[in-house]
Amino acid sequence: MLLITRDMPPEVLARARREHETRELRLTGRFEARHVLDNIAGINAILCIPADKFDAALIKALPGTVKVIGTFSVGMEHIDLDAAAARGIKICHTPDVLTTATAELSLTLMLMAARRAGEGERILRAGRWQGLAPTHHLGRGVAGKTLGILGMGRIGRALAEMARGLNMQVHYRNRQRLPAELEQGATYHADDASFLAVLDFLSINAPGGKETFHWLNAERLALLKPGAIIVNTGRGTTIDDDALVAALCTGHVAAAGLDVFANEPEIPPGYLTLENVVLLPHIGSATIEARNAMGFLALDGIKAALTS
Ligand code: DGY
Repeated sequence: MLLITRDMPPEVLARARREHETRELRLTGRFEARHVLDNIAGINAILCIPADKFDAALIKALPGTVKVIGTFSVGMEHIDLDAAAARGIKICHTPDVLTTATAELSLTLMLMAARRAGEGERILRAGRWQGLAPTHHLGRGVAGKTLGILGMGRIGRALAEMARGLNMQVHYRNRQRLPAELEQGATYHADDASFLAVLDFLSINAPGGKETFHWLNAERLALLKPGAIIVNTGRGTTIDDDALVAALCTGHVAAAGLDVFANEPEIPPGYLTLENVVLLPHIGSATIEARNAMGFLALDGIKAALTS
């Protein structure tokens, strides 16, 4: 029997029901281990999302019937992989199929932040627009600017390709330098200081977890050129929010576009009153195409794990 923690796109749910007996929790908001443990009898597979934290304690408490956890995400930082391996529980996730959608959202945030789109919409909705004026609401263009990508995996590379189409120069930081055919002319930086110093835009496309925790802290923010713009569609934990709020208040960082937050669905209150921040509700992969493909891929992985 398949335990599905959250509501799923209709076609994904239909396929899940065809292939498995399902127990559907339709949880919303904050996840607690008891949501799973209270409903675990007879379950051999679980379909979850990044908000569902399968830490070592929860994995240890799962009964031996559970053979696989499929996550409706490319990110797996919410699952303790070592604990799962120790219990012989297989893990599957959904890489590739959300690459374009997430890169598109990074670009959306870059353009929205650079052109002050959120602020402009708020002015109109509040009835405060006084008509076109040559000096009104000036933003920044992206053409000819440098874009730094932290995390040059599939999503980072898809964003780089889009940015090249906009005539941006791409720089990147990654665990390793990429081969030339993947680099496509982007400039690799072996250290943060040289990377951050040349950027007009910084896009975070790296995975979450311990390795990137608070990577963008006060020290690294200070290394950015004044007036840089930051977007994040990776994980909220990569940014030290207090440090970013402070840099947005002084204007050292001109604007930010954020789709992910450390403690979702909570938004650090400092962002809420700043006009120069665009905030989105973790919709990087939220196209119908990508979300269906993610569900199907997770179901493929679950089926393969149960039949192997
Ligand atoms: C992922 O796949 O990790 C995304 O954050 C969920 O859309």
